[in-house]
Amino acid sequence: MENFNFYAPTYFEFGKGAEAETGKLIKRFGGSKVLLHYGGGSIKKNGVYGKVIAALTSADIPFTELGGVCPNPRSGLVYEGIKLAKEEGIDFILAVGGGSVIDSAKAIAAGVRYDGDFLDFYQGRAQIEDALPIGTVLTIAAAGSEGSANSVITDEENKIKKGARSDLLRPRFSVMNPEFTCSLPPYQTAAGATDIFIHVCERYFSNTREVCITDRLCESVMKTILYETPRVLRDPDNYEARANIMWAGMVAHNNICGVGREQDWASHHIEHELSALYDVTHGAGLAVIAPAWMKYVLEKHPEKFVPFATEVWGVPLDTINPMETAMRGIERFEAFLKQIGMPSRFSEIGAKKADIPVMVDKIFAKKETEGFYVKLTPEDVTKIYESVADQ
Ligand code: NZQ
Ligand code: ZN
Repeated sequence: MENFNFYAPTYFEFGKGAEAETGKLIKRFGGSKVLLHYGGGSIKKNGVYGKVIAALTSADIPFTELGGVCPNPRSGLVYEGIKLAKEEGIDFILAVGGGSVIDSAKAIAAGVRYDGDFLDFYQGRAQIEDALPIGTVLTIAAAGSEGSANSVITDEENKIKKGARSDLLRPRFSVMNPEFTCSLPPYQTAAGATDIFIHVCERYFSNTREVCITDRLCESVMKTILYETPRVLRDPDNYEARANIMWAGMVAHNNICGVGREQDWASHHIEHELSALYDVTHGAGLAVIAPAWMKYVLEKHPEKFVPFATEVWGVPLDTINPMETAMRGIERFEAFLKQIGMPSRFSEIGAKKADIPVMVDKIFAKKETEGFYVKLTPEDVTKIYESVADQ
């Protein structure tokens, strides 16, 4: 195991009715004037908005609203939020929504306390040294931003989607009521589950040896997703399944599954170019890229694919031909993604073969290799894209 530090101070209020605590939690973490940040309107249709407003009102917390965050959140609204927060003297941001709303809130939080362009943090030109505190009311289990130190924003002018990372971005608290996720369309539920699963894969496929504690944690989260996702797709109001998936989303990405080990992240970076260019749902883009990445790197480095097949997918170990075992695991993963309605080819997500060189150039603009489990060159990434590019 490698040396590590791990600081994850988010307070979680989990379960039915948890949102009633929102006002008290804002006060507890020092908020007195709040920016209420949300997305395109789902919270107004499913009643979450009314419940949050009631919690803020009963705690006498003044707030200013900024809605309109879209999936794959954009820089334009972040600039607007920074300006608004400065004008209104905001001292706390409450994000009500999914990863996109939370990431936009994190960007505003860092931007308010910075004199330069907030995109400096996302383009590697500056480190975050201060940020407003944020809290979240989560409405979709997916990105894990409710417990993570990360934020991903699309620079809409240059169509570049990049992440920033700092413990200062970790939410002070996250309210997680699994009932709020019952209104998700099946496609969003499945895309979220896929994202959760791949967050674990990015950590599981590692060259670090003797990390059985995190290996076993990763396998548990993956098995939970493959058990609960079909259950919740059959029965969207199944509270227990929703609860397990929601907590899995947090555990998958606050890095408790990733400490002490090298991590990969190639699938995510390859996918981010798809969401930046075509506005693909992040989890759906991952469903196309991750199996393609697996099949490509399997030949070069099969080691971790054997326990992936046996421990996660229940494939019997073929001791004479372990490569066969590894391949069966990837096939079961692909079958699972198909079963839950996820895409597998460019044509299903509107991506174009002709854009592959542009995407590859963006990935390698500031680095020579991508990922760590197998260090990929631009030629490797081109082949991964091409293996799923049917148009
Ligand atoms: O905008 P509204 O109307 O709220 O609708 C959203 C949106 O259309 C809808 N939705 C959310 N909760 C709902 C609901 N619809 C009905 N009922 C509900 N309860 O779902 C759609 C997707 O929402 P979004 O926030 O985009 O989903 P997700 O949580 O998957 O976030 C995706 C973003 O997070 C980034 C992704 O790249 C992408 O931009 N990521 C952030 C990470 C992080 N900060 O740590 C890590 C991830 O790897 C990921 O990259
Ligand atoms: Zn992700």
